[in-house]
Amino acid sequence: MDTNEYHHSRLYTFSEEADKTMSSKKTLTINGNQFEFETGETILDVCRNNSIDVPTLCHLKGATPTGACRVCVVEVEKARSLMTACSTPAAPEMVVQTESPTVITARKEIIQLLLSSGNHNCAVRGSDNRDWTDFQLNVRADDNSEELCPVWGDCRLQDLAYRYQVNGQGFDATETRYPMETVNPFIVRDFSRCILCGRCVQACNEVQVNKAIDFGYRGAAAKIIAAGDKPLKDSECVFCGECVQACPVGALVEKDARYQVRPWETKKVRTTCGYCGVGCQLYLHVKDNKVVRVTGVEDTPPNYGSLCVKGRFAFNFISSKERLTTPLIRKEGELQEATWDEALDLVAGRFKEIRDTSGPNSMGVLTSARITNEENYIAHKFTRAVLKTNNIDHCARL
Ligand code: SF4
Ligand code: SF4
Ligand code: SF4
Ligand code: FES
Repeated sequence: MDTNEYHHSRLYTFSEEADKTMSSKKTLTINGNQFEFETGETILDVCRNNSIDVPTLCHLKGATPTGACRVCVVEVEKARSLMTACSTPAAPEMVVQTESPTVITARKEIIQLLLSSGNHNCAVRGSDNRDWTDFQLNVRADDNSEELCPVWGDCRLQDLAYRYQVNGQGFDATETRYPMETVNPFIVRDFSRCILCGRCVQACNEVQVNKAIDFGYRGAAAKIIAAGDKPLKDSECVFCGECVQACPVGALVEKDARYQVRPWETKKVRTTCGYCGVGCQLYLHVKDNKVVRVTGVEDTPPNYGSLCVKGRFAFNFISSKERLTTPLIRKEGELQEATWDEALDLVAGRFKEIRDTSGPNSMGVLTSARITNEENYIAHKFTRAVLKTNNIDHCARL
């Protein structure tokens, strides 16, 4: 029986036991303590519900578990091999160890393997015996940059490498097969850092349901592909950036933010997206008083981390030098700068003139879902109380 078959048979046995005790309270033991659980919860769910930290890489909340990376392996009593916590259902009487010596040895090996495949030139990869100058020259050749990996300091794999004190040594380094894809307007795809965890595929297919990317090729040639292996810009991709937010390493990075966002140099400011009335919650990553990146706030309604292309990528206008900073009034055919008082007096005067000469019902106001509820409320008050007409409508009804 191969390992997968064994896992499936074990899963089946545990599920059967779970079904038999549907009506009674179900408990299992993790690291010597008993915990209750609901049918359908995985070992990882029970751990997370009870603040037991089990590291994950491929697991994406809300998506089907794939068990691809095996970083979350745990020891389950009576099971003949380690089980992946993210895809193994919890079962009554299960006895689980999440950080036993066997588990730690297995996790170290998995992390080492991931670090040795591809270009993981962060500090953990640089700690080998190679000459430092050669190492830096390699970094420049691989990344066309003076700096180490663009997500240095914000990478789950790097975090795990530090946590388990391993680097990529011990396994033959595998070379990168595919060049970096830089032609897209918002996203750089660096295949040399892809660990094939599949989170981006799940984020695109299961969370956003855009179905723009999938696994392609086999074995050592495996790659995440779009539209039969074309650049994202020539595929179904709508550049929502969900895959970028899901990528645990530096394989998918926002083009403009590459090398701009080191966690210790940026401040995260939580705010509400101003593009429409949905009210997505987002973080502005601010460096030197300039927004350099936007990410969705996870675990929070209404968007639970997801954003659209505008919310995530269209923020350069904030510091654009072309922004209007003062009202403009057309005088003798030319737009000329004016004060706010001048502009508001002009508009108010014209409204009054039209109302007095042609009557209030000669005017109407159209509002938009792209403004906030409060702004729509003000528009309705202004129309009825100031213009004295009920001619107000909203684009959502058109
Ligand atoms: S992707 Fe992560 S592990 Fe790889 S080089 Fe970058 S920081 Fe290091
Ligand atoms: S940007 Fe959005 S649509 Fe494009 S591949 Fe990523 S998740 Fe899919
Ligand atoms: S691009 Fe990122 S999220 Fe997608 S498979 Fe590679 S490492 Fe995982
Ligand atoms: S997180 Fe469980 S297998 Fe990857």
